Amino acid sequence: MKIVLPDQRTPFLLDTAILLALAKLVQPRTYFEFGTYLGVQVINVAANLPPESRLYTLDLDEESVAAQQDAKQRQLTVDYLDAKQQKKLAFVRSSFEERITPLYGDSNTYDFAPFHGRMDMLFVDGGHELPTVQSDTDNAFKMLSQDRMGCIAWHDYGNRDYPGLRTFIDGLSETRDMFFVEESLMVFFIHKDEQLVAALKHGSTNDRETR
Ligand SMILES: C[S@@+](CC[C@H](N)C(=O)[O-])C[C@H]1O[C@@H](n2cnc3c(N)ncnc32)[C@H](O)[C@@H]1O
Repeated sequence: MKIVLPDQRTPFLLDTAILLALAKLVQPRTYFEFGTYLGVQVINVAANLPPESRLYTLDLDEESVAAQQDAKQRQLTVDYLDAKQQKKLAFVRSSFEERITPLYGDSNTYDFAPFHGRMDMLFVDGGHELPTVQSDTDNAFKMLSQDRMGCIAWHDYGNRDYPGLRTFIDGLSETRDMFFVEESLMVFFIHKDEQLVAALKHGSTNDRETR
């Protein structure tokens, strides 16, 4: 896989590698990201998918930033808006730009209906407060393509700044097979590939036995 490090804005490399490995496995025709920030993960996914793939990334617009309650999260949005205004998002003016569609608005109120059933892979990494994670997760499942293998990944599982996110994902894992990659902050769900899910379950069981 290829990892792009634009302007030395280094992402969490393990987490990037996991996201890219999932993208390589799923080979999504369409990819949706909640939370653009500086555009580093979405350019990395674009760099590892065939040229016919299409990518979408949603972040807050200027009007909705005022609704941000949490100071740490608000700073991320301020950095994003600044980078957007200065045309410094990682994919802008890159060879991947034409495949990446930036979307603007609050994911809690955004109309996702045009995307329902049309995304092969989604990355939930937008607002990290519980109501937003819940709403983004509901929308991610609605957007997931039904007819082929797909994947939803979440970031920041285990991040101590967002304990509610972990509890929420743990709750999801009671009804769905959710996979957490140790030493990372990544959790993922695989849709419609029972063989892969069985292999992953087997692998994680072995890990436990050898630990
Ligand atoms: C952790 S950053 C995303 C990082 C990005 N996915 C990456 O890995 O390069 C979270 C982003 O979500 C955005 N965000 C927060 N709340 C949001 C909401 N309700 N709707 C859309 N975007 C939101 C923030 O503005 C911020 O840019």
